[in-house]
Amino acid sequence: MEHILKGINLNKTFGTKDRNIQALKDVDFYIDEGELLGIAGESGSGKSTLLNVMSGLIRPDSGELFYREQEYTGKGPSQTGKFLQMIFQDAKNSFDPRFTMERSLLESRRKKTDRDALCGILKEVGLDEKLLKRKASELSGGQCQRMSIARALYSEADILLCDEITSALDVSSQAQVVGILKRLNTERKLTAVFVSHDIALLSMLCSRIMVMKDGIEVEQGVVEDIVRRPKHEYTKLLIESARKQSL
Ligand SMILES: Nc1ncnc2c1ncn2[C@@H]1O[C@H](COP(=O)(O)OP(=O)(O)OP(=O)(O)O)[C@@H](O)[C@H]1O
Ligand SMILES: [Mg+2]
Repeated sequence: MEHILKGINLNKTFGTKDRNIQALKDVDFYIDEGELLGIAGESGSGKSTLLNVMSGLIRPDSGELFYREQEYTGKGPSQTGKFLQMIFQDAKNSFDPRFTMERSLLESRRKKTDRDALCGILKEVGLDEKLLKRKASELSGGQCQRMSIARALYSEADILLCDEITSALDVSSQAQVVGILKRLNTERKLTAVFVSHDIALLSMLCSRIMVMKDGIEVEQGVVEDIVRRPKHEYTKLLIESARKQSL
């Protein structure tokens, strides 16, 4: 089967004053259409770097990227924005503070403005269209995060790349966002990648999980295998610490 997104042998090193940090080492990934893929790993393991490489925000030092078999290595967000959209932890700062939500969302779409489609999407993410008149600073964190999901859907990107999008939210808003994404996946075959340090959250949301440590892909597999039969000590540790936190 054709993968909707695929990366082969991705490497990325960051040079800092005192040393070089290899944030990605020979990482491979794939995502199938309609799949929710989770990327787990502790802080500094390379999760955001991988997502930024997938999205074209960061150029890999080597390796190749494909969208539906078409290579897009080296293409930046102005090109990749046609098929994927990033959603960030800090939703408020991802909107221009001067603009109303209406302006921000309408401008995210290259095609003709379709207000009915926009209102339909707002309904899907559980937001009142009255909120379109507000600016980011006038929304709650949870509302803002749902607006950024609505913006990505309205832009008609095929794939959502989500970096710790529930980390800044309280537990009930977190559950709401997770519920919305799961429903969108069931109802409209949403394809998305979720980066989180919280493997428990990923196992509720995703069908497959990839585990990262020090820039290396430690293991990947369907959720049941990763959670019930982890092969690596590191994955066991992540699961164990998630269990402890939920007690
Ligand atoms: N622009 C940069 N310049 C230098 N080093 C960087 C840069 N971006 C990331 N790094 C380093 O690369 C490594 C991977 O960082 P990355 O942000 O991908 O981790 P992460 O898994 O997303 O962590 P977190 O869970 O804390 O967000 C870290 O050691 C980080 O310090
Ligand atoms: Mg990160």
